[in-house]
Amino acid sequence: GPAGPCCFVVFGANGDLTKRLLVPALYNLAATGLLPENFAIVGVMRRPTEDGEFRQMLVDGLKQFATRPVEQAVADKLFSCVSSVVAQPDKPESFRDLADHLAKIEEARNTGGNRLFYLATPPTGFAPITHQLAEVGLTQEEPGGPWRRVIVEKPFGTDLASAQALNRQLLSVLSEDQIYRMDHYLGKETVQNIMILRFANGLFEPIWNRDHIEHVQISVAETVNVERRGAFYDNTGALRDMVPNHLCQLLSLIAMEPPAKYSANSVRSEKAEALAAITHYTPEEAIANSVRAQYGAGTIKGEGVIPYREAQDVKPDSTTPTYVALKFGIDNWRWAGVPFYLRTGKALAKRKTEVAIKFKDAPISMFRDTALSGMAQNVLVLDIQPDEGITLHFNAKVPGPSVDLAPVGMAFKYKDYFEAAASTGYETLIYDCMIGDAMLFQRADGVEAGWSAVQPFLDAWAAAGQAGLATYEAGSEGPAAADELLERDGRAWRSIS
Ligand code: BG6
Repeated sequence: GPAGPCCFVVFGANGDLTKRLLVPALYNLAATGLLPENFAIVGVMRRPTEDGEFRQMLVDGLKQFATRPVEQAVADKLFSCVSSVVAQPDKPESFRDLADHLAKIEEARNTGGNRLFYLATPPTGFAPITHQLAEVGLTQEEPGGPWRRVIVEKPFGTDLASAQALNRQLLSVLSEDQIYRMDHYLGKETVQNIMILRFANGLFEPIWNRDHIEHVQISVAETVNVERRGAFYDNTGALRDMVPNHLCQLLSLIAMEPPAKYSANSVRSEKAEALAAITHYTPEEAIANSVRAQYGAGTIKGEGVIPYREAQDVKPDSTTPTYVALKFGIDNWRWAGVPFYLRTGKALAKRKTEVAIKFKDAPISMFRDTALSGMAQNVLVLDIQPDEGITLHFNAKVPGPSVDLAPVGMAFKYKDYFEAAASTGYETLIYDCMIGDAMLFQRADGVEAGWSAVQPFLDAWAAAGQAGLATYEAGSEGPAAADELLERDGRAWRSIS
């Protein structure tokens, strides 16, 4: 059913994220009857903006980025409760104006004082904004009173120390229960389904361990290049942008122990435990177990790609990786000795996010003419995007008088069973925040565990500079060094194309 009455207050209201993701998500919630009757959208601006101008921005955003056909009546209703106000964290008085504005809107719209503050700003805004909100009492909660919650976008810090500092700052003015740290991967249906696959079926969990699983591959390949995001990206790179958050989320869902309850804190505790068990590498080990690379020239979908170092706002001697491959170990009873290989990169051959669980081989081959090495490994592939599904690969007999084997697959495709939800993933997350379910948001310990896992690479690479930085052709499957990382262990990546 619809969420309870509330006011949706967005900072960074005229930014890209609001237009691209929040507006379509709010529209989808409205269209599926999940928004409350008593609802208001307040855009917090840096400069005075007419309500009408803000409304028009949202209307335009929807026109451009809607994920389903827009029904005028639904859109009209959604945008009828829109207003804007100016507030800037470096002008504390302006937060009094925000408080006055909210008081008026809350009365007019009867939202019961429940507030969702969405910080869609650059990360430098997170601490000062929450601080000023608290100063004027806007985030204060009383027992039995209305709720006040804050969604914090990514990036959450740039390394372990800054993530810890940001957690300290947020937790000095908010309780953990009020903080919703966003990782949009958790809003993806196929990502949520990992827990269902493991824990709603009796089949998989008994073999989900070191006795049966030989290794795991987690791949997030993108075809997009840095385009005009050079200024952001060159200070961030593939490791920070993707690994402590999105890839670590996937890893923790695969590696976690079954939680005692399907509740936000049980689930998040188990996920954080799994991440905390990742081997902490020395600098030498970090170098030996990683590959970092930048794309050079190449072609993607028939279009020439400008080499990373020549892209706009990228330093010509930049050492920022656009591709990383890592080998992780997880030091606990379930996973000791089972490598988790992670890779992610931009400007690759294909857009594909998948998790491949590779099982141990049959202990002997009793089939004439087929050596053990001729049998394909059993693999369970979770296709996260874009062709959502799950496939189990195994060996079968090729029909005919001789006993020859061939790999075959049992494939489940979401589209064969379910209507595409036409969602952005943000609907689930915004709705969950409104109903107070934090399961799909990161808790402080989880975020820090993700940064802890990647910190050894950040340190080792900063010290190494240009040394060891590889290149790969844009439109390829990645650098040769990434293949060597697995070849060394007698293994190979699955092809992404
Ligand atoms: C974002 C990163 O968090 O995730 C982007 O900042 C990346 O660089 C994006 O492209 C990938 O998300 P998705 O949903 O397209 O896999």
